[in-house]
Amino acid sequence: MMRDGLIVDDPERGVFRVHRSAFTSGEVLALERERIFDRCWLYVGHESEVEAPGDYVRRQVGGRPLFMVRGEDGEVRVFYNTCTHRGALVCRRDRGNGKVFQCFYHAWTFNSRGELIGVPDEEGYPASFDRREFGLRGPPRVGSYRGFVFVSFSDEVPSLEEYLAGAREYLDLVADQAEEGMRVIQGTHRFHIRANWKLFVENTVGDGYHFQTVHETFLQFVSKLVFQSSGGVAVEDRGRHLSLGNGHAVTEYPAYGVGRPIALWYPFFGEDAREEIEAIRRRMLQKYGPERGRRMCESMRNFLIFPNFTVLDFVGISLRVMWPIRPDYTEVLQWELVPREEQGDRLQRRLENYLTFQGPGGFGNPDDVEALESCQAGYAAEEVEWSDLSRGMHRQATSVDELVPRIFWRQWLALLQGMPRAPRLDDAIPGEVTRGTRS
Ligand code: FES
Ligand code: FE
Repeated sequence: MMRDGLIVDDPERGVFRVHRSAFTSGEVLALERERIFDRCWLYVGHESEVEAPGDYVRRQVGGRPLFMVRGEDGEVRVFYNTCTHRGALVCRRDRGNGKVFQCFYHAWTFNSRGELIGVPDEEGYPASFDRREFGLRGPPRVGSYRGFVFVSFSDEVPSLEEYLAGAREYLDLVADQAEEGMRVIQGTHRFHIRANWKLFVENTVGDGYHFQTVHETFLQFVSKLVFQSSGGVAVEDRGRHLSLGNGHAVTEYPAYGVGRPIALWYPFFGEDAREEIEAIRRRMLQKYGPERGRRMCESMRNFLIFPNFTVLDFVGISLRVMWPIRPDYTEVLQWELVPREEQGDRLQRRLENYLTFQGPGGFGNPDDVEALESCQAGYAAEEVEWSDLSRGMHRQATSVDELVPRIFWRQWLALLQGMPRAPRLDDAIPGEVTRGTRS
């Protein structure tokens, strides 16, 4: 069932509710595909995943089969993974390296620039047949920012930079942590959730206060390992929620030292890593100045690039994208981003942090999945129609409020209604001084 009014948004009364059919309706998902996924910029992968000429990764993006490949000329391209002959998938592995892509059906062969270079029995075709017309096709828009590659299936989107708006600064804050550039650890962490994709968006970037309840086990583990060994770390600052434009949003909060052996040393990382980490910190402060440098070293950030790409810069740097398969079933892909120069124990520690929280047997992700699947199961009680997301509507939103999901939902609703963007993303009462976001 789909209703006209999927969201109640009344900042004056402090009411924000989402109708639960937004998570269960096939009609809503069909509209999302048409008006959101077919019209926004969507994340494909990171350039470092295709480091050498001929390297490729295969991805399903916005329902389309794609692959990203680095040509012999060094350029990264994205193609539709469909043979221009009669349609078979040209790239049949998730990743690899190849000089050419030969279709297994009738052996048409394409080079890494997508040009058709081989057709068996070419003389069997009429004179009008021209190989040049049959090169692999690509999405109408392909863009890259700091190595993050996006595509859009619409010609009408603004440039990627314009679309990213305030999220560019956050991608910079992530990318600049590396002194020799970032790379994605090879391989994709893929899992499926029996819940709607938007539940995971909310959970990933805009739901800081589930940490105390859902991740209690992790907090107990961490407090033993980190807080006690650090002599106790009091985190009074609750951080903030910010709109970054176009539905993108961030939760930013003080680092508590669990996961990022970047430039904030904690006893957790071991005495032998201390000098190295502190030296990085000095270089970052020198390079980026005290304010930005400290922000990079001492704060963590989870942010959303609308509609479904999230970056979790907290226990390591995880890139996560959620793709709806059905209203109640989602495929999640994750990758870990690391500074190229980080090797040995520090890299090992970071990857262990990733597994400790995000891994299949970790303290974090499986608990989140359990919570989301539980919500989805609860929606079978159709008579209970609304979910509440009003927390923090009456105050300057912190990381334990729900402003970030409200920003997401406002943009989501506007696009679903065919508008190019939401008329209002924050909690401001029309006619009042802006509330709910800080500049
Ligand atoms: Fe690819 Fe025929 S479908 S060669
Ligand atoms: Fe969580």
